[in-house]
Amino acid sequence: MIIERFVLTPFQQNTRVVACEETRRAICIDPGEESEDLFEFISKNELDLQAIALTHGHLDHVGGTAHLSRKFPEAEIILHKDDADLYYGLPQQPLFFGMEPHQLAALGLEYEDPPRLTRNWEDGESYEVGTLRFSVRHCPGHTRGHVVLAEENEKKVFVGDCLFDGSIGRTDLPGGSYEQLIDSINSKILSLADDFVVYSGHGPETTVGREKTHNPFLNQASRSSGGRYV
Ligand SMILES: [Fe+2]
Repeated sequence: MIIERFVLTPFQQNTRVVACEETRRAICIDPGEESEDLFEFISKNELDLQAIALTHGHLDHVGGTAHLSRKFPEAEIILHKDDADLYYGLPQQPLFFGMEPHQLAALGLEYEDPPRLTRNWEDGESYEVGTLRFSVRHCPGHTRGHVVLAEENEKKVFVGDCLFDGSIGRTDLPGGSYEQLIDSINSKILSLADDFVVYSGHGPETTVGREKTHNPFLNQASRSSGGRYV
């Protein structure tokens, strides 16, 4: 299994290319912004990009979709239907974060309308990338339509902005719910084996076991809402 990370956007978002070593089939999970490094990695390694796989619809996770889709027009673009409004509203999203329209270009947050989604994730479906098989798990709470992708043979889970090393996703943005997020994390992520490696949308990798024992947001003693990252 090939996993290559690109840290993109002013939000330090983790864009990843995940590929099957045998077949060279690949997906890009959450292209945060236009990136020549990302494009060149896929091209130079002769990977066959079958999909732009979006965990959720926030700007720092979908901002590079239009560019990547132009480079690889055969790639599917997949997102859960409950985040479709967020995705299609990409040009307006910076306003949620309190940014003024005149500031956007200077911050690199001026977006074109994104390309049409070609498919929606379904909770519980199995999604194949060569010999890799991801189980798709709907995890609302950070956004309504957030999903995580778990590869159970490789014991790796791509969790977007649900869970971070020592923290959890923000729940104060439109569609967020603290109770739903905690329930999603417990039922859909922490139910995986302790040795699953957790790949988050921001920050370093962690494991299911480490978050179960060390994450203060998942400890019953700490019920304060908040979390980090957009
Ligand atoms: Fe997010």
